[in-house]
Amino acid sequence: MIATTGELAALRARVAAWKREGLRVGFVPTMGNLHAGHHSLLRLARGHADRVVASVFVNPTQFGPDEDFARYPRTPEADAAGLDAAGCDLLWLPSVETMYPFGVEATVQVRVPGVTEVLEGAHRPGHFDGVATVVARLFNQVQPDVAVFGRKDYQQLAVIRYLVRDLAFPLELLAAPILREADGLAMSSRNQYLSAEERPVAAELQRTLQTMRAALVAGTPRLQVEAEARAHLQRRGFDVDYVVVRRPDLGEPADGEGGAQLALVAARLGRTRLIDNLEFTLD
Ligand code: PAJ
Repeated sequence: MIATTGELAALRARVAAWKREGLRVGFVPTMGNLHAGHHSLLRLARGHADRVVASVFVNPTQFGPDEDFARYPRTPEADAAGLDAAGCDLLWLPSVETMYPFGVEATVQVRVPGVTEVLEGAHRPGHFDGVATVVARLFNQVQPDVAVFGRKDYQQLAVIRYLVRDLAFPLELLAAPILREADGLAMSSRNQYLSAEERPVAAELQRTLQTMRAALVAGTPRLQVEAEARAHLQRRGFDVDYVVVRRPDLGEPADGEGGAQLALVAARLGRTRLIDNLEFTLD
């Protein structure tokens, strides 16, 4: 069975021993309730490291007061079994007290400016401060040589890139592709909140992003593409936070601008808030 610890000293001793042997340490941070998307990150880490640490920590500081922290699915036994099968060597399972020993309010905060102020950042105030703070702490606890994040949370990945660059964390960041269900719905721990009626409708997010790409390729102006996508999702019953086309740095492309771009969406279906994105290149 996979080794698990919630003791920082034990984590540090294990990683230090690996490093003394010259082994490269990979790291995959998660909030648990692991699915095939998470497991694919583990396998990517395995391919770039000799030993892999995963963390499971439902981080209270990245949830807003009206969000799902209390009901976020917690499945520790299944998580440990899945990590074991995916080739994880050590599961880091800190308690809230271990992560925030001086209390959440008194803790040093990490805030990444700029990229955190738009899209998810604008709709979930403080969310990325919580993410940047916990990921900085996790990096210092685990001290990995390589860390893997999923492209599903595209903006989070951008935030982590700035965090690593600005705080000079000595690690390599790897971005993993989005794993999807057969109908295109991006895998997410939150998908299980969807009712039987909502579940097939949720796949409309990815289909809409593909329609947006096709419309842009056909020369439809970006603002029109965005407006049509929003209207379409609303007709299908979504409460849309944003559905937009952006540059890789999340800035707004100029009219007719080509090159690498992505369509991003965040929308609620019933009580479930879902995000997705689609990266593409325009000629
Ligand atoms: P969590 O939502 O558990 O996701 C952990 C990692 O899995 C993230 O890097 C996320 O992008 C990736 N992931 C989730 N679903 C995926 C999918 N369908 N395909 C590919 N990758 C996927 O993201 C977090 O946790 C937290 O914010 C965290 C970084 C752990 C900080 O608390």
